[in-house]
Amino acid sequence: MTAPISERLDDPDAARAEGRRKIEWVRQHMPILSAVSERFEAEQPLAGERIGMAMHVEAKTAALVEVLAAGGAEVAITGCNPLSTHDDVSAALDAVEGVTSYAERGVDDEAYYAAIEAVIGHDPTITVDDGGDMVFAIHEDYPELLGTVVGGCEETTTGVHRLRAMDADGALEYPMFAVNDTPTKRLFDNVHGTGESALAAIAMTTNLSWAGKTVVVAGYGYCGKGVAKKASGQNADVVVTEVDPRRALEAHMEGYDVMPMAEAAAEGDVFVTTTGNRDVIVEDHFEVMQDGAVLANAGHFDVEIDIEGLADMAVDSYEARDGVRAYELADGRRIHVLAEGRLVNLAAPVALGHPVEVMDQSFGVQALCVEELLEGDYDAGVHDVPDAVDREVADIKLAAEGVGYDSLSDAQREYMDSWQHGT
Ligand code: NAI
Repeated sequence: MTAPISERLDDPDAARAEGRRKIEWVRQHMPILSAVSERFEAEQPLAGERIGMAMHVEAKTAALVEVLAAGGAEVAITGCNPLSTHDDVSAALDAVEGVTSYAERGVDDEAYYAAIEAVIGHDPTITVDDGGDMVFAIHEDYPELLGTVVGGCEETTTGVHRLRAMDADGALEYPMFAVNDTPTKRLFDNVHGTGESALAAIAMTTNLSWAGKTVVVAGYGYCGKGVAKKASGQNADVVVTEVDPRRALEAHMEGYDVMPMAEAAAEGDVFVTTTGNRDVIVEDHFEVMQDGAVLANAGHFDVEIDIEGLADMAVDSYEARDGVRAYELADGRRIHVLAEGRLVNLAAPVALGHPVEVMDQSFGVQALCVEELLEGDYDAGVHDVPDAVDREVADIKLAAEGVGYDSLSDAQREYMDSWQHGT
């Protein structure tokens, strides 16, 4: 049985102190969560609920957990990726009243899933996932809980894809909010968050410059757009690969080179995958890559780059830097994979995840969605987040930034809602 993190660390007090310092720093920059926390503390909308979470356990997520606990919930949490947990933050969270954290960095698959089971052992009434592993485990292995779970929230694109597939199969037994799909989340977190933090993690892990490099971005969705734009802003030449003709066209009209990966593979200095799909960079591509190529994945699962295939081709493999594994091929070329092909902006040793302000928005939506699940009456299935919830988050943020904006007049509203006005 997995024990909470505090029982597994050599010096839990020191870890808690360092984790607390990190949490306090991010909280200073999260006006949305602060506002929600203040209200939750006064109103206790989550009193009596047990929330089970599988998310990247680092300081920003800890701030969300504390808001949910302030609202009266008991929270149990573990990681959603074996490499993204910050043990000190996990220990600090575990010390918060009403919170138990099982997350630990670097666990193997068995320990990773055992920690998810430990969270499920708290009999959650609400689940909050990043990638869908918790929802999936409950449906597969703990069907007896399905009657008591009120609902859940999903943070990322890949998790929402999985849920929609479950829903289409009639297999999703409770309501889930697609938090990922709200404008306040996706237009900022996926685009700016992934763009900034993936590039920062790659630069810090390699200590290499972007200027003058050819950066191949696989997938021109929300994350890919962010990575491409920020890489271009750092004076890199950007090449985009896509499978959707509209997105390929969009990238072309944006001024990027667009080509199949079979061609891009020979051109790139740095590759960043953001597709949420598997087998995006495989053996045929490794065959033609330049010596020294750097490969990073920013999609949710570690299936975008075929690392097993690369390892099979390699005659030697070694840790070239912390977080960089070099694979040496028979002809002497070296191909470098960052963070074991796991999402680089969270799993690289120096990675900090998205900027704090971006996660304030995403987690503001999460917190309000947890409340909404209890207030609304939702059937089993995937639900869009109510527009009013998303607007509330944007409103709080704009007020905190001192930014004003206009409102529709009655005449404008009537005009926009009517179909009779013509030429
Ligand atoms: P999206 O659906 O907007 O974009 C994915 C794009 O990849 C689509 O345009 C699709 O046509 C393209 N694609 C699919 N297979 C491809 C292939 N074989 N080759 C080239 N292009 C291909 O999804 P979004 O929101 O950009 O998310 C992408 C992934 O990033 C997901 O796994 C998501 O969970 C993850 N994510 C990661 C974050 C991070 O912090 N690193 C933050 C947010 C999302």
